[in-house]
Formats: sequence, C-alpha cells, structure tokens
Amino acid sequence: LKIVRTIEEMRAERRHLKKVGLVPTMGAFHEGHLELMRQAREKSGSVVVSLFVNPTQFGPSDDFHKYPRQEARDAEMAESVGVDVIFAPSPEEMYQRPHTKVCVEGAAEGYEGDFRPGHFDGVATVVLKLFDIIQPTSAFFGLKDLQQCAVIRQMVRDLNVPVRVELIETVRETKGLALSSRNKYLTTDQRSYATSFSEVLKSAAQSAGLRGTPIHEAVHWAKSDLIRRGFEVDYVAMVDAETMRPSVIPDEKTRIVAAIRYEGVRLIDNFPVPLKK
Ligand code: PAF
Repeated sequence: LKIVRTIEEMRAERRHLKKVGLVPTMGAFHEGHLELMRQAREKSGSVVVSLFVNPTQFGPSDDFHKYPRQEARDAEMAESVGVDVIFAPSPEEMYQRPHTKVCVEGAAEGYEGDFRPGHFDGVATVVLKLFDIIQPTSAFFGLKDLQQCAVIRQMVRDLNVPVRVELIETVRETKGLALSSRNKYLTTDQRSYATSFSEVLKSAAQSAGLRGTPIHEAVHWAKSDLIRRGFEVDYVAMVDAETMRPSVIPDEKTRIVAAIRYEGVRLIDNFPVPLKK
C-alpha cells in the first residue's frame, strides 16, 4: 500500500495503474467502507482510496473540526482488503482560494440540500476533482448517502464524466443501525436505542410497498413514531432514488429517506420500498 499526498505524485502513480476503481472517503473507516473497497477490488484492476476530510462540504456549524481522523488505522484496514494506493492530500493541496464550484441542480435540492446548504456543491466539487486527478474507470459509493449518490450520478451524466458509478447497499450493525463514521459520537447504549430509527423506516417502507398504505400516511406515521421515541426529525419522505423527486405511488426506484437528530448527533438512513410480487 502506498500513501501519496500531492496531486503530482498521484498522477505519477496513476500511470502505473490499470482500470482503477476509486473509493472516495473521508476516513474513519468501518465495515461499510471496507465493503466498498472489497467491491472495488473485485471489479477493478487496481484500487485507489481517497482519504480527505473535505472542508467545503461542511457548514459553519457542522462537525469538520471534530470529525474522526485516524489515518494510521485506516491505512492498515485498507491494506487488509487489498487497496493499492491511498490519496490523502491536505486542504491546501486540493483548494486554492477562491475556487470553482460544481452546483448540481435537481438531485441536490430538498432534504439534505435544505438542511445543509452548500453541502452538495462541496461534495460534487471534490468528487469531480478526485475523478480528474485519479481518472478511475469506476467509483464506488455507499447508498447510505442516498442523495449524494443521486447528485453524483446526475453530475456524471450532466458533465459527461467518463466514470462508471457503482452504488453499494448500506452495511448495518446486527440490530440494523446503518454504519456511519458519526456513530462514534454515540455511546453503546445510545447506538442501541438509535436502531429504532432504522426499524421505524423499514416498517413504513413495508407498509407502503406491501400493504398498500398510501405514501403520505406511511410517512406521517413514521414521522410521528420517531418523534414519540424522542428523536428530532429533520425530514422523512419517500422519493425516486435517481431524481430525489417525491414518489406518489411506490415503484422499484422508490426509497424512504430520513434524517434525525439524537443526542446532538445527526443520523441519516434510507430503505428501498419493497413491492408486492
Ligand atoms: O461520502 C463521503 O465520505 C464524502 O461525501 C465523499 C464522497 C468522500 C466526498 O468528500
């Protein structure tokens, strides 16, 4: 495993690599990241992981400074699943001031876009930069960040970026809580309580998909149940996972998405809406 820190070094390294699978990350690896790396390993000639806590996707009151950083441990974990190169630049290496931003209209609007203004401009900008620097054949993203996946797919389509975007299903703790680097902010007991977040979403998705409950009723039930359990709800909705437009009747692209705050930690999750066979 090689760790490179400058764009020039990364470009030099790239010349020796074939059919690169890129896994863009902000570090603090967990099983969800490792699954993306394993998939990249399986489907690519070589695997590059970017490890960069991207300042431009954090708002002024977000957790940029306290975001977990553990590069040495991350490098060991990446090596254990066969990653070839880690690209870990500094913010100064990545950004001049002022700099160009990528703004994705459509998929970036609403939901996370409303609660985290500017977040998706930061994500789209850094991902496009990583694509240009690393020139991967494919790039692997976790479906836990459903709207991020929609934003990146739209950007790739709109800007004719020659990268195949692979979306990988969320990895969960045994009881169902979606793995996230931010789960580190919760105690074991709090994490255990937070599993009811995913349980409520899953029940609402099943109710709309399998029992024919109208979407607005299933969403209303989920919201009320989450509030009753003491979570602060930012949003719950059923959307088309490709466009992030609200779904009216469930189809194979419909997913329930939600964001809550619990003990000062913001959690997001989503599930497919299963359809009657
Ligand atoms: O999902 C993440 O970790 C980040 O948003 C990403 C895609 C690495 C961009 O900084």
